[in-house]
Amino acid sequence: MSLNLSFARSQFPALSDADDAWTYLDNAGGSQVLGAVADRIHDYLLTSSVQLGASYGVSTLAAERLYAGQSAIAELINAARPEEVVFGPSSTVMIQTLARAIAPTMAPGDEVVVSMIDHEANIGPWLALEARGIIVRRWEMNRESMSLEVSDLESLMTARTRLVVCTQTSNIFGQLIPVEPITACAHRHGAAVCIDGVAFAPHRLVDVRAWGVDFYVFSLYKVFGPHHAVLYGKYERLLALANLSHHFVPMDKIPGKLQPGNPNYELSYGATAIPEYLVTLGKRSGAPAGASRRACMAVAFDAIAAHEAVLADRVLAWLRARRGVRIIGPASSDPLVRVPTISFVVDGCDSERIVRAIDPLRIGIRFGDFYSRRLIEDLGLAAGKGVVRASCAHYNTVADADRLVAALDQTVPC
Ligand SMILES: Cc1ncc(COP(=O)(O)O)c(C=O)c1O
Repeated sequence: MSLNLSFARSQFPALSDADDAWTYLDNAGGSQVLGAVADRIHDYLLTSSVQLGASYGVSTLAAERLYAGQSAIAELINAARPEEVVFGPSSTVMIQTLARAIAPTMAPGDEVVVSMIDHEANIGPWLALEARGIIVRRWEMNRESMSLEVSDLESLMTARTRLVVCTQTSNIFGQLIPVEPITACAHRHGAAVCIDGVAFAPHRLVDVRAWGVDFYVFSLYKVFGPHHAVLYGKYERLLALANLSHHFVPMDKIPGKLQPGNPNYELSYGATAIPEYLVTLGKRSGAPAGASRRACMAVAFDAIAAHEAVLADRVLAWLRARRGVRIIGPASSDPLVRVPTISFVVDGCDSERIVRAIDPLRIGIRFGDFYSRRLIEDLGLAAGKGVVRASCAHYNTVADADRLVAALDQTVPC
């Protein structure tokens, strides 16, 4: 089974093979958008843009389309029911939403374990709970593995631990962090888990039920969709959260009580095109005839992982060989180890200088801390303007990776 790259690329109108085309290697910042997503947003706005909740036909159509968005995302992540999908503008807002809604269910002295390698979106809202008397235990990076280790988590768990929050893939390191052992550890101690899947979801098939996670957050604008985001919660967990909407909204109005003022309808509907694309991509990448939609998506992501590993290896091989370059994250391109989000620094040269030298070559990469500021500071990389980060998506070609390598060859000054 191998990725049908020409089909994949044909689905993204922004991609082009013209000589002056941009090479998009900032996909961990934001992916390109499927044409079908844009078409559905357009269609929604021109044919069903009315307020939900009325009894006339167009209003019921609009409601059906919002529900179709929830159902599509439930299918994508294998949620048990569409109501478990909460929509909002960004993962940052979704985690703040969860923190606000879960805080009233905790008592002073209750504890939350928070990973310190995360994007600030999954740290700040939890640290803010300290003001309510909740104890936040910091889960630091393990210096040997340069990752999060369950053995370290175990030592932070107590009888008062209510929640464990961490990333599934660091947006700096790109390494995969298995969530099942984290979830198992949390559950053994009676705690829930909230996983930041933002850097994972564009690269591997999400399966919230297989993993047993309680909450899961990711951004659709990094998964080939619009600027819109998802908070998944197990139904009974969502039921227990506080109501963030009007006082008369019932506690069992899920996900409505967590979407005050309603989510964006057209973007929710646009998202219906994402699983459809992945199913078709799976079929065109070798899924057997008659395979279920989920099996097709699994084939698509297997093909994506294999293709992305080839891309990553082109870049990592150059970085590994170059003196004075330090890869920040695994040096291996093994798809069991990492996604193709690749960060590095160059001795004696700040990261901004490298990226600005590459900008005129029409290659989109970037530098900085990517809001994982605590991690970048902990690694001692803040003074050098953070890391250079190149991040592939499945629609990138080997030629894209080689173009980056050639550009680095010209610009990296050692
Ligand atoms: C790992 C990770 N978590 C959270 C976020 C925040 O996502 P959003 O931009 O949707 O708020 C990002 C954004 O880059 C991210 O990379």
